[in-house]
Amino acid sequence: MTEYKTNYKNWANWYDLVYEIIKPKDLILYKSLINDQTKDVLEMGIGTGRIFKSFFQNKINWTGIDDSEEMINLCKEKIEPLQPLKGKLKLINEDMTKLDIRIDNKSIHNSKFDLVIYPSNSLMSVGDINQQKNALCSGLKHLKDNGILMFDLHNPNNYEIKDKFQLMGSAKINNLNHEIFGRSEVDFINKLHTNFQKIIINSDEVIELKSYDNFLYIEDVISICDELNIEILDMFGGYNKEKISDNSEEIIFISKKK
Ligand SMILES: C[S@@+](CC[C@H](N)C(=O)[O-])C[C@H]1O[C@@H](n2cnc3c(N)ncnc32)[C@H](O)[C@@H]1O
Repeated sequence: MTEYKTNYKNWANWYDLVYEIIKPKDLILYKSLINDQTKDVLEMGIGTGRIFKSFFQNKINWTGIDDSEEMINLCKEKIEPLQPLKGKLKLINEDMTKLDIRIDNKSIHNSKFDLVIYPSNSLMSVGDINQQKNALCSGLKHLKDNGILMFDLHNPNNYEIKDKFQLMGSAKINNLNHEIFGRSEVDFINKLHTNFQKIIINSDEVIELKSYDNFLYIEDVISICDELNIEILDMFGGYNKEKISDNSEEIIFISKKK
C-alpha cells in the first residue's frame, strides 16, 4: 500500500519561514503543561526545535526525536547560539514509531519522561493509523507512570477540497515580500488530507511544497486509546484550552497511562 508521508527533506529549508509567516498559536499550551516539576520531556518530531527554543532557559532534560536528518541538523544549528543551555538537549535521529531509548547501553529499561508531546500535528505525519498507533506505543513506553502524553490533530470537519490556490498568509521578512498560497485535496475514505503549498518571494521566486495529514476522527482516537490503555484526561478545541466543538480548529488530547 502507498505510504503517504510528508517529505521533510524538501521542507527543511522552508519550515521556519512558513511558521514565521503563518504563526502557530500552540506555545501557550506547552507553557501550561511544563512547570517546575517537569524534569524530562520527550518531543516526538522535534523538527527545527521551535518549541524547545521557548524552554531552553528551563532546567529540563529535553529529548527530541526526528527521522529527518535535515530537520535535526537545522535544529542543531539553531540551538548552537543559545549555549550554554540551562537544561540538556539530546537529539535522536530515529523513527518515532520504533523508538527504544535505554537508560544506558547496558540497561534493559527505557528512559522515562514526565511529558511526551507530538507537536504541530506530528502524529498525523507518521503515516497511516497503524503507524500512528506505533508512534503512540513508543510514547507510552517512555512515559513515567504519572506522566502526561499530549498530541494535537487537525479537526477533519474543517477539511475541504480547495481546487484553486488561495492566499494563506503574507509577511515582509528581510525586506522581501513573502506570500504563501495553498490548495488541498481530501480523501475521506482513506482519511488523507493533501496540502499543496506555494511560497512566492518578491513575486518572483516560487517554492512548491506538499504535505500529507493522515487524519483521525475523535471516535478513532478513543478506540486507539482504549486499545493502547491510554486514559484521555482532557480534550480541547484549541491551544487556549477552548471547548471542543464541531468546528474547533484543533483536537488536542491530554492523556496518561491507564
Ligand atoms: C510538523 S513538524 C513538527 C516540528 C516541531 N515539533 C514543531 O512543532 O515545530 C513534524 C516533524 O515530525 C517529523 N516526523 C515525521 N514522521 C516521523 C517519524 N516517523 N519519526 C520521527 N519524526 C518524524 C518530521 O521530520 C518533522 O520534523
